[in-house]
Amino acid sequence: MAKTRIGILTGGGDCPGLNAVIRAVGKAAAKRGWDTIGFHGGYEGLLDPVEYMPLDYKAMDGLLVRGGTILGTSNRGRFAAKTGGEGQVNRIPGEILQAAKQTVEKLGVKALICVGGDGSLTIAQQLFETGVPVIGVPKTIDNDLEATIMTFGFDSAVACATDALDRLHTTAESHNRVMVLEVMGRHSGWIAIAAGISGGGDVILIPEIPFTYENVCRVVAEREKNGKKFTLVVAAEGAKEAHGKIVTQGDKPKDREDRLGGIGAVVAAEIEKRTGKETRVCVLGHLQRGGGPTSFDRLLCTRFGAQAVELVARGKFGHMVALHPPDIVPVKITEAIGRIRKVPADGDLVKTAKALGIGFGDG
Ligand code: F6P
Repeated sequence: MAKTRIGILTGGGDCPGLNAVIRAVGKAAAKRGWDTIGFHGGYEGLLDPVEYMPLDYKAMDGLLVRGGTILGTSNRGRFAAKTGGEGQVNRIPGEILQAAKQTVEKLGVKALICVGGDGSLTIAQQLFETGVPVIGVPKTIDNDLEATIMTFGFDSAVACATDALDRLHTTAESHNRVMVLEVMGRHSGWIAIAAGISGGGDVILIPEIPFTYENVCRVVAEREKNGKKFTLVVAAEGAKEAHGKIVTQGDKPKDREDRLGGIGAVVAAEIEKRTGKETRVCVLGHLQRGGGPTSFDRLLCTRFGAQAVELVARGKFGHMVALHPPDIVPVKITEAIGRIRKVPADGDLVKTAKALGIGFGDG
């Protein structure tokens, strides 16, 4: 009898931990006597020319700690399903979905494990509705996916941003400067607030709380009065001024979300103008997405991968694995997609920060 075969692909922007998930899936499947194949380049690998590789036991070597994804990924192309967070969700053309289904059937793939964020899981759901047996694994450094307490990649991005703040701290202090760190966070400020608190930031600007420069500069002035001659500001790329607009780079690409970036420089220039203090900006960019996963993410990815294989065995298709401490549980993919999990403006993280005098530019 032919071995049971499963497939896996990684979609959307990369992040630390993708390879750790691939490894956990490959190993857990091998343990059951199953065969695993990995499709290349995200969902594109399912279409002509179909591209995949065997993920045998040997192929798992070194994957736990390796950054990126050995399968490659893509957030564009024939499967570009998602444009703009809570905005409009495009239907993938029926013939594309059918072609992907045919590949899965032709290769005898019993289940397709789709690792991705909101956009990639939206595609997974459409494949599921077309008859492909899919299981989702939630990924994004932004941590903005619903139905799971945390996505993998987030902790690694926060560790990177916190390390950057530690470094900016010493140089800011030496020069009596204001330092603005721009971090990722398209629709939500999870990275900014988590790193901002962990890295001793003084002002945190997030998409959920519109700011005014008056309020931001008040923090700088108050610190000055208290003998603190430097200030650390963390700005999520999606943060915006009250009644202002998000800062983007260039025109909106067709079938893709706006390319964000530039808020840090805008904020730095305005602080310098208003306070007269020398201000510098550091844009962390894709450093947050590169490199290997933290130990927290290694563990989460391993748990997610093992549980995804378990869900295949239980036939829980159309579900994704989710972290609901202390367990990893199955949730319907439809519970996760099409909405954004935001930092609650009156939640514990914001309260904690405010209790310490950290400003959000809102008062
Ligand atoms: O969605 C994750 C994310 O890291 C966003 O925070 C960021 O805006 C985006 O990816 C950048 O993606 P790329 O540079 O791959 O287009």
